Amino acid sequence: MRIGPVTLANRLFAAPMAGVTDRPFRMLCKRLGAGYAVSEMVTSRRELWGSLKTSRRADHAGESEPIAVQIAGTDAAMMAEAAAYNVARGAQVIDINMGCPAKKVCSKWAGSALMRDEALAAQIIDAVVAVCRPREVPVTLKMRTGWCESERNAVRLARLAEDAGVAMVTVHGRTREQGYGGQAEYDTIAAVKKAVAIPVVANGDIDSPQKARAVLEATGADAIMIGRAAQGRPWIFREIAHFLATGQELPAPETLQAKAWLVEHLHDHLGLYGETSGVRSARKHIGWAVRGLPGGEAFRAAMNRIDDGAAQLRAVADYFDRLADIHPRLPATSRAANDDLLARPA
Ligand SMILES: Cc1cc2nc3c(=O)[nH]c(=O)nc-3n(C[C@H](O)[C@H](O)[C@H](O)COP(=O)(O)O)c2cc1C
Repeated sequence: MRIGPVTLANRLFAAPMAGVTDRPFRMLCKRLGAGYAVSEMVTSRRELWGSLKTSRRADHAGESEPIAVQIAGTDAAMMAEAAAYNVARGAQVIDINMGCPAKKVCSKWAGSALMRDEALAAQIIDAVVAVCRPREVPVTLKMRTGWCESERNAVRLARLAEDAGVAMVTVHGRTREQGYGGQAEYDTIAAVKKAVAIPVVANGDIDSPQKARAVLEATGADAIMIGRAAQGRPWIFREIAHFLATGQELPAPETLQAKAWLVEHLHDHLGLYGETSGVRSARKHIGWAVRGLPGGEAFRAAMNRIDDGAAQLRAVADYFDRLADIHPRLPATSRAANDDLLARPA
């Protein structure tokens, strides 16, 4: 699997998720089998590049290659500048966001709104490719199937992107209007794959090895991208890799192994964000990690009252130690009789 000149370890990608796929989480996904992980989007607004949030997003220290940065905005010149800025900071792939449904980028509709304005989308693509090509950095595009049911133009946009020099397109199988509701559809992704020669990545609702195989078969895509199903379960990448290679399911991870991955992740997380803000932003990762586990909900609620990094790490370790006594491997069940035993952080 290649993106222009960049070779990837496999065809299992971690989706960019703002507020989630920061460097520690991307590194964890890559360690657990993702061949590629795109950063959270970085705004094209220059005045924000110095902000703590954006500079953290542009920090790739220690991350395994390739470094892929997603940029978002609505102005071609600003997007080109953002691409150059991120390439100078180590980006080896620049991804243009045309899929985000939120009205938050530049206080304007950016992201998927660009799908509605193909002329502007083309301008942005041209400008970003023009900046990246001399630096031998491939440009990729992430989009939805269209703006709404009656405006499904993913195929047209993918062709436009390919003609403009884009090296890969990812399609989330929903329209912008759908947000995250309903179900992703894969027919449009299959149509995009048929329409272009560049690699196509299928995304949306892939949450198991079986689904991964089904989506690859249904779309003919070159790769698949997983977002929400990796939250709290980053080992889904190696589960999928194993299943695609052997047709067999991996057993659930050992509980103590899952604990070790989470604790390591939390250390990295606190290292990037510092204790005060890190303890708070780590809570969502912890919440996802214990979701559906015995006593998980009560533990998550108790965890939200801890403001100290060391205490947070101790509580997490203690929860998983107690869980391991009962379940040597992570249980798939959502409720167990020993809820109370596991609920309280030590
Ligand atoms: C919390 C969250 C943040 C997201 N942020 C971004 C983003 O910054 N850029 C982007 O292109 N997509 C973003 N997405 C969309 C995902 O990359 C992905 O397309 C979508 O979640 C569908 O894949 P999934 O069903 O595997 O989660 C985000 C999704 C979620 C849930």
